[in-house]
Amino acid sequence: MATAEKEVETTGLVGWIDRRFPMTSTWKKHVSEYYAPKNFNFWYFFGSLALLVLVNQIVTGIFLTMNYKPDATLAFASVEYIMREVPWGWLIRYMHSTGASMFFVVVYLHMFRGLMYGSYRKPRELVWIFGCAIFLCLMAEAFFGYLLPWGQMSFWGAQVIVNLFSAIPFIGPDLSLWIRGDYVVSDVTLNRFFAFHVIAIPLVLIGLVVAHLVALHEVGSNNPDGIEIKAKKDANGIPLDGIPFHPYYSVHDFMGVCVFLLIFAAIIFFAPEMGGYFLEANNFVPANPLQTPPEIAPVWYFTAFYAMLRATTDPFKIVLMIVIAALALLALLRARGKWRLGLPVLAVLVLIFMALTESKFWGVVVMGTAVVSLFFLPWLDRSPVKSIRYRPLFHKVFYAIFVFAFLLLGFLGTRPPSPAATLIAQICALIYFAFFLGMPFWTPRGKFKTPPERVHYKPH
Ligand code: HEM
Repeated sequence: MATAEKEVETTGLVGWIDRRFPMTSTWKKHVSEYYAPKNFNFWYFFGSLALLVLVNQIVTGIFLTMNYKPDATLAFASVEYIMREVPWGWLIRYMHSTGASMFFVVVYLHMFRGLMYGSYRKPRELVWIFGCAIFLCLMAEAFFGYLLPWGQMSFWGAQVIVNLFSAIPFIGPDLSLWIRGDYVVSDVTLNRFFAFHVIAIPLVLIGLVVAHLVALHEVGSNNPDGIEIKAKKDANGIPLDGIPFHPYYSVHDFMGVCVFLLIFAAIIFFAPEMGGYFLEANNFVPANPLQTPPEIAPVWYFTAFYAMLRATTDPFKIVLMIVIAALALLALLRARGKWRLGLPVLAVLVLIFMALTESKFWGVVVMGTAVVSLFFLPWLDRSPVKSIRYRPLFHKVFYAIFVFAFLLLGFLGTRPPSPAATLIAQICALIYFAFFLGMPFWTPRGKFKTPPERVHYKPH
């Protein structure tokens, strides 16, 4: 249906609703007349899959809440009750715990797609920023949720992470006390984490997902060629390379959903603990504030950031200080205008502050900066083309090194620390930040291929 054609009046019940609520027009705008590029590939499955997992988490979460008890003396037993006594309770619980990990699998792949095809570039900056905010919320949601089973890992994981805040100069100790609501993680902490996990964060998350999609539909989807399909339209104003989301991509995404559900079900029925990666063995032991487990490691989706935190030792802080001093010198030599002096002055202040504060605090800063850096990607990348397809070979190599460093950090975060592992994690952390910091310099360089006028598409 052409958008420029006269709107067809709806009749009957639908007409009655449409005269009072924009039902048909919303359906058309966002589904049946949302023109998406016709060259979407495998990587475009993960947005709809993220939506599916979000719904799974909310629905299974509601059912879990019906039998879960947010009380330090009852929480662990109530989860066991769900697993053993509640009809199908084990399925609901495993759907929720597996769903948490699969959420991160899907979202990491979804973000990687954005990185590959430059989907964060103008005009999609807000789509990306809402996405990054979703990622932050997702991390908070997973962290709060992990305390609820009140196992050893729940308790000690929360203890370690909340204690990190105490490293912040001046306000740290009071801040961590305020977050916990007690001198140690306790029933008070469990109650507030429960409130955040079941209502506060999900509300924000849903709001952000709506904003993410509204922003996307305002500007239109990017595609693997990274070219704007809205630049070439037919006489009716429809992009020549666009096809209606429904039925074309609803059917396409349904296929993705079927494959995903096969994998999801296989994990739930055959490996719900995933060898300790999705559910840790130590969390089947009730929380004991008097006994620290030998190894405290977060769940796999946090381990890359956790490895950066652990890598920030005293010598690494000195390396960071040297890097900052070198960057300040570079700014003094190369920058123009107010940046020329402003940046070096700022750097000196940061260096003094770093010398006076402990490396644990800088570990927290490094970890936080690793996530926050993502927000700036739209302004850091200055390449003339969006998609990786048309970039020089060395860009592809840089992307590959970045991804490899991130995966290696993730792996190292699951292992007990050793001097060699710490050194490798430090190198990987430097690569991670060099990728972002260096972007304004390396992304415009090299020999780019000219992107095609129209999208590449082979009918299948
Ligand atoms: C609950 C989590 C999320 C949900 C439900 C979600 C949903 C979606 C959906 C349905 C789409 C359109 C289909 C597609 O392009 O795959 C999309 C596109 C997009 N999302 Fe997300 N998303 C989530 C998280 C994120 C995160 C964490 C980021 C990045 C930090 C992100 C960045 C993007 C970008 C850049 C696009 C446009 C891609 C393009 O047009 O090429 N999303 N998202």
